[in-house]
Amino acid sequence: MEEGAPTLRVTKIREGTVIDHITAGYALIVLRILGITGREGFVVSVAMNVPSQKLGRKDIVKIEGRELSPEEVDRIALVAPKATINIIRDYEVVRKHRVRLPKIIRNIIKCMNPACITNSREPVEPTFYVISEEPLKLRCHYCGRIMEQADVLASLFEER
Ligand code: CTP
Ligand code: ZN
Repeated sequence: MEEGAPTLRVTKIREGTVIDHITAGYALIVLRILGITGREGFVVSVAMNVPSQKLGRKDIVKIEGRELSPEEVDRIALVAPKATINIIRDYEVVRKHRVRLPKIIRNIIKCMNPACITNSREPVEPTFYVISEEPLKLRCHYCGRIMEQADVLASLFEER
């Protein structure tokens, strides 16, 4: 960007949640992990591949009128470990926290073992234990299969 050019791409919000420092290119996956489709009705702004001092490039998601809880948001650490969650009230950042990967991940990832009970018609919710953060490794509660970063991404990108 040119020296002195305005850096604000998406306007400040009055109330809601700003998810900042998302790994560049992952904003849409973050929205998917959060279960936000855009059809809920609240205003959502997405900026991708924005220049960042800390990260080189980053994505940002702003959700107006909704304060997401840390428990809801921490799962995005699967793809955006450096993300920060900012809660905004009356234009001010009133809370800021860095996401932390939970020990257990439920529901969002599918086990890659076709024989796993979670891939049958049984009504069981996929459940994984985080056994390593870097490199990412999750173990399926039901069949023991280890899912690595690439498997997790493949599962998140899959059509559902
Ligand atoms: N933000 C916003 N609306 C507001 C206040 C802040 O959209 N009313 C956004 C900012 O644009 C920024 C994020 O929320 O993307 C965090 O804001 P702030 O803490 O003021 O920025 P920094 O100090 O740069 O944050 P950090 O130290 O986490 O990099
Ligand atoms: Zn399994």
